[in-house]
Amino acid sequence: MLKIALVGCGTIGSEIARAITDRFNKDAKLVALCDINEANAKKLLAELNEKPELLSLDELIPKSDLVIEAASGDIIAELVKKCLDADVDVMAISVGGFIGHEELFELAEKSKACLYLPSGALCGLDAVKAAGISNIKSARLITRKPPRGLKGAPFLEKQNIDIDKIDKETVIFQGSAKEAIKAFPKNINVAALLSLMSVGADKTKVKIITSPEFVRNSHQMVIEGDFGRVETLSENMPSPNNPKTSYLAVLSCIACLKQILSHVKLGT
Ligand SMILES: NC(=O)c1ccc[n+]([C@@H]2O[C@H](COP(=O)([O-])OP(=O)(O)OC[C@H]3O[C@@H](n4cnc5c(N)ncnc54)[C@H](O)[C@@H]3O)[C@@H](O)[C@H]2O)c1
Repeated sequence: MLKIALVGCGTIGSEIARAITDRFNKDAKLVALCDINEANAKKLLAELNEKPELLSLDELIPKSDLVIEAASGDIIAELVKKCLDADVDVMAISVGGFIGHEELFELAEKSKACLYLPSGALCGLDAVKAAGISNIKSARLITRKPPRGLKGAPFLEKQNIDIDKIDKETVIFQGSAKEAIKAFPKNINVAALLSLMSVGADKTKVKIITSPEFVRNSHQMVIEGDFGRVETLSENMPSPNNPKTSYLAVLSCIACLKQILSHVKLGT
């Protein structure tokens, strides 16, 4: 039985918790929950068939074989370091939190624990992983989101952009993945993972486009290198509870957990 603790009981965390207690209950047990907003943790607890403990981050790590983060990029540096120092596996979905904290990867290599970063809302990362064995020359991401999927981003406030007033297709942002993560920390995690797996956060180019006509969160990814060229398009439905989060990101975390629990690993 893999003992799992969950940090973050929102859109993604709640679905992961249900998958553990309902779908994977022969191989895994949800032992603890944690959320900065206790009401969210209590709401999830009331809905679950199993009753994990509500614990702080420091309390839950020693009780777990795997800690799953579905909370915020702000907590990545602390959470991942604490788990790896305790030789506890960790799965993190707020990938933007790794940009500027690349030492965490070195720490993971030295640790007995594993660090998992699921593909999230972006398809085609299997090809990026394979291509990276040789040489990737360039990586580009064009993200299209409806205005409500970008709401609350620090970039909009800084540039004085009222996202509700946008009435036609508009390029909101162009820059490096590093700049994109800073500008849209909750909206562009996929740029972080693409950059970590390809040419790095300074060289990966990101464009963000919005329009009131957009219904889906779409990501167009282009990489080029010795292998040739790959272009993918993910057209994701936003989660009903959180329009910033694509439903595919939720499914990706559950698929990552399934892979951890299974002896058969399909795909690169
Ligand atoms: N990699 C990807 O493709 C991808 C896609 C979507 C979302 N994300 C990221 O996943 C994370 C979760 O997304 P979501 O849609 O579930 O968000 P959400 O807002 O629905 O839920 C987040 C939950 O985490 C809690 N939380 C926030 N900070 C915390 C902290 N420091 N400690 C404990 N709990 C904390 C919040 O109270 C909330 O309950 C976000 O950081 C989001 O940016 C990644």
